[in-house]
Amino acid sequence: MSTRTPIMAGNWKMNLNHLEAIAHVQKLAFALADKDYEAVEVAVLPPFTDLRSVQTLVDGDKLRIKYGAQDISQHDSGAYTGEISGPMLAKLKCTFVVIGHSERRQYHNETDELVNAKVKAAYKHGLTPILCVGEELDVREAGDHVAHTLAQVDGGLRDLPAEQAETVVIAYEPVWAIGTGKVCGAEDAQEVCAAIRARLGELYSQDVADKIRIQYGGSVKSGNVAEIMAQADIDGALVGGASLDADEFVRIVRFRD
Ligand code: G3P
Repeated sequence: MSTRTPIMAGNWKMNLNHLEAIAHVQKLAFALADKDYEAVEVAVLPPFTDLRSVQTLVDGDKLRIKYGAQDISQHDSGAYTGEISGPMLAKLKCTFVVIGHSERRQYHNETDELVNAKVKAAYKHGLTPILCVGEELDVREAGDHVAHTLAQVDGGLRDLPAEQAETVVIAYEPVWAIGTGKVCGAEDAQEVCAAIRARLGELYSQDVADKIRIQYGGSVKSGNVAEIMAQADIDGALVGGASLDADEFVRIVRFRD
């Protein structure tokens, strides 16, 4: 049995303004105030504009909910209009930062090289990357999903030392299952997550690979989360749409109930 702490993270994408964010986190805090969820790490990943509001709430009330950003610049500062740097996120006491989400890869042409630079920028400033990988539908249909995903893992972690890599969170998100209602079957997700862990063992060591948490993402809901979490190499979920409903996200966090 794995000793990895399950991690449930809500990626709000471009949803909820800072006032809605406060109401949402308050709901989560009420619903998760008992001991039952202490064995599960819970995080919210709001838009940049909400981070200060979430920080104030989490800090002020000493909430166990963690939070992070959805992207990071590879640069620390300078003439990069519209970007947000690692030092800025660290100042807001973010724990996590999502890197290489398929929507960034697709709409902002993010390459594995850029993703790798962002992963390094995150570690430089004490942030934990949630590194997203996963294949498009045509890649899966061609049967190349494992090779494709492992190439993204290799690219994202390139030259990263083991002591950093062992804390990374990897989110396997098959692109065709994101926001479509099409869930990747739990066993299909396990196939890829097991291959990711095996690759981590080759890149680092079995000990490091056993420490790294791998999430599944793509149409996760309270109705399918238990089956997904029952897989040996799946340690959590990166939840999009369903995380916008606080009650539903709480049910996902309480997948063991
Ligand atoms: O990062 C989470 C994500 O892309 C999955 O989105 O809406 O299918 O849960 P969704």
